[in-house]
This record gives sequence, C-alpha cells and structure tokens, in this order.
Amino acid sequence: MRRLDQLLANLGYCSRREARAWVAAGRVTVRGKVADDFGAKVAVSDVLIDGQPPEHPDGLLLVLHKPTGLVCSHDAGEGPRVYDLLPPRWLARNPALTSVGRLDKDTTGLLLLTDQTALVHRLTSPKNKVEKIYRATVDRDLAPGLGELFAAGTLQLDGEKEPCAPAALKLLSPREAELTLTEGKYHQVRRMFAATGATVLTLHRAQFGPLTLGDLTPGQWRELALDFSG
Ligand code: URA
Repeated sequence: MRRLDQLLANLGYCSRREARAWVAAGRVTVRGKVADDFGAKVAVSDVLIDGQPPEHPDGLLLVLHKPTGLVCSHDAGEGPRVYDLLPPRWLARNPALTSVGRLDKDTTGLLLLTDQTALVHRLTSPKNKVEKIYRATVDRDLAPGLGELFAAGTLQLDGEKEPCAPAALKLLSPREAELTLTEGKYHQVRRMFAATGATVLTLHRAQFGPLTLGDLTPGQWRELALDFSG
C-alpha cells in the first residue's frame, strides 16, 4: 500500500503538492470511486489516473538504440541527452531513471535505462562478467597479435589500477572488429585501441548480456520486463 499523493509523485505524474489538486479535480479513482483523500493508503492495482492504470508502478527497464550526438549524463549543460528522447513523465520519477553504465556522445547502440538501482549494480559490476559486445572501426589496419594482447588480461591503461580483464576480439575486416568486454572502464574500447596505436572512428554497442537491439532504429526504445527476460 502506498500513499496516493506519494504514488502520483513517485511515478512522475506531478509533485506531491500538485497531487492534492489532481485528487480534488477528480482525476484519480480508487476501486472505481473518485478519490477524495490524497493521503489515503491505496493498492496501486486499485488506482486509475485520468482513467488509466498507473504507468510502470513496479519499475521501468528500457533498451534504447542510442544515436550519436546525445550524452548519457542527466546534466542538460553537457548537451542533448538520451533522456530527452523519453516521455517527460518518466524523467520525473523517483527513484530516477538512469542508464546502466554510459556510452560516449559519439557511440551508438544498445543502452539500458532503469530505475532499479540493484539491477544497475548487478549489470555493471565487473564481478558478474556481463558481456558487452562492441563493433569498432579504426583508422589503420589492425595489428597482428591484437587478439592475443586483448585476451591476455594484461593490457594496462593509463590511470587505471587494474589491467583490462581478458577481452575477445573478432576481426570483421582489416579495420573493423568486434570486441567483447566484461567490464566498463571509462572510454574503455577507445582507450584499448589507442593503447595499440589505433584511433576508433566509429563505435557501436551491439549487445548487452543476452540483449540485442532487434529492429530498433536510432532513437527508438522498447520496454523490458524487470526480470530482464522480455
Ligand atoms: N568504450 C568506449 O570507449 N566508449 C563507449 O561509449 C563504450 C565503451
């Protein structure tokens, strides 16, 4: 059971203060009756807001095809944000919707967004070795032996305490490769290639754990079941 005004505020419909006005205006029903007490404890399943069931009352998990040019930061001062692609109501939720790790502004591909803090930790902890698959094009032919170097788990990036965990490299063409990582150090793919003298020109994340983009085009998203199966 949750307080009605808190429910509306946590799901991003309005502030708790505004919830009083929503209730007074008859916009909310509980078990088919117009609600008259914004402080009443209610079961979410009994509530309709403007005639509709509350949106994602148990949490939100999205897979987004991130286009280039958008940042994963919440700070609008850093430029156009991935969050600006989503319904504004979702951005007013508490707990807040956040990305599971980040992709650089110029990186495209699969980005997970959720309000489930435990899920973020589970998916980003290097201990859990969740595989992320990236496709990179670089500015020169990839050096022989690069696969062995990345697989060895010894590549030390400047400023990092630990070397990169073993990563699998699959050459797709002389200047294009697929790289599978189980961790997410800052700018990791770009820095790994840079450490070998190559500059990444384009970077796309094709897969996160078992999830792929399917037929999502850049800027589109789909909702997933919170148990990550959908
Ligand atoms: N590695 C990078 O360098 N950039 C990304 O966006 C993701 C992984």
